Amino acid sequence: MTDILERYAAAMTSLAAQGLLRRLPDAAATGQLDFSGNDYMGLAKRPELVDAALEAGRKYGAGSTGSRLLSGNTPVHTAFEARIAADKGTEAALIFASGYQTNASCIAALLDRTVLGAEPLVFADKLNHASMHLGCALAGARQLRYRHLDLSHLKALLEKHADEDRPRVILSESVFGMDGDQADVAALQALALEHGALLYVDEAHATGVFGPRGFGLCEAVELATTTVVMGTMSKALGTSGGYVACSRLVRDYLINKSGGFIFSTAPSPLVVAAGLSAWELLPGLDAERRALLARAERLRQGLRKLGLDPGGSTTHIVPVILGTPERTLAVKERLAQRGILVSAVRPPTVPQGTSRLRLGLSAAHTDADMARLLDALGGLA
Ligand SMILES: Cc1ncc(COP(=O)(O)O)c(C=O)c1O
Repeated sequence: MTDILERYAAAMTSLAAQGLLRRLPDAAATGQLDFSGNDYMGLAKRPELVDAALEAGRKYGAGSTGSRLLSGNTPVHTAFEARIAADKGTEAALIFASGYQTNASCIAALLDRTVLGAEPLVFADKLNHASMHLGCALAGARQLRYRHLDLSHLKALLEKHADEDRPRVILSESVFGMDGDQADVAALQALALEHGALLYVDEAHATGVFGPRGFGLCEAVELATTTVVMGTMSKALGTSGGYVACSRLVRDYLINKSGGFIFSTAPSPLVVAAGLSAWELLPGLDAERRALLARAERLRQGLRKLGLDPGGSTTHIVPVILGTPERTLAVKERLAQRGILVSAVRPPTVPQGTSRLRLGLSAAHTDADMARLLDALGGLA
């Protein structure tokens, strides 16, 4: 029989042959112009966040020492949740150690057929994040996937299954992380209400960048108690962690049914305090948000002039769709030689034939940085 390690090696050889092998970037590399991160508001290194983390650490310790249900519930956790709920306009909120954990464990709990009495009908945007798929898989729930952002397709699927006596759930991101386009959250909620469906919206990439005070695209929508909004602290908030903003009932349910909440150590007070500090800065960053989005628009115009394709991006996330993994890796490498760091995104993260550079813009970038990026891309296009 083939040795198990040989099978792992063969899997990686096969990935390499397809241009899909992943490698960690050089941890020691510094001084590069970085478009590969998600620190959209440039908060990760702000002293306010570091100071808040240190203060909480001195008060509550470096670690939370246990699950929230045991020893890990500190005032900083509950204060952050109260703040998220107030600013998202929901009754309650619940935080987790990561966004991935939030999606996987909350979606699994919300789709639990032993609770729902039947396998739910799950309507999901085709380009939803891997962690949302994992939540469905953990619940053993099949997904009815509608074309990306195509609400008429979603409506048709809802109508097609209208006679089935099964609970309904709609899953979508609000700003899509690999394409930088946006869902119409109000229209999604209206469809969900019309069809008696629970709506679950992932605001990982919208939190901090969109909304009247920066609390996400859902901030402008009056949320129903059947809408659950998820977001992360790992992108524009410059720290790490995830949250759901929801009704009190859903929060209580998740405290009892979400494995990622029950069986995992609560996020460190250091990280939670930094996240809360970042959250409190958001309403004051309106000018930075406007500048960021204007810079993204100029970048898209510049890319089109170069004959490059930014897809359907309308946000601070701008893909440059190049097609094959090989071409994408080659352009990434040549940009790196010029000191510019970008992400090369390949299948299975994105569909076949749409390998791309993913440019994550940050409020910390300058107009000169953007000019340097376009100039470098111009030399390669
Ligand atoms: C849409 C979306 N949801 C959830 C996550 C997971 O969040 P985290 O990185 O905090 O685990 C990501 C991460 O990239 C994401 O893009």
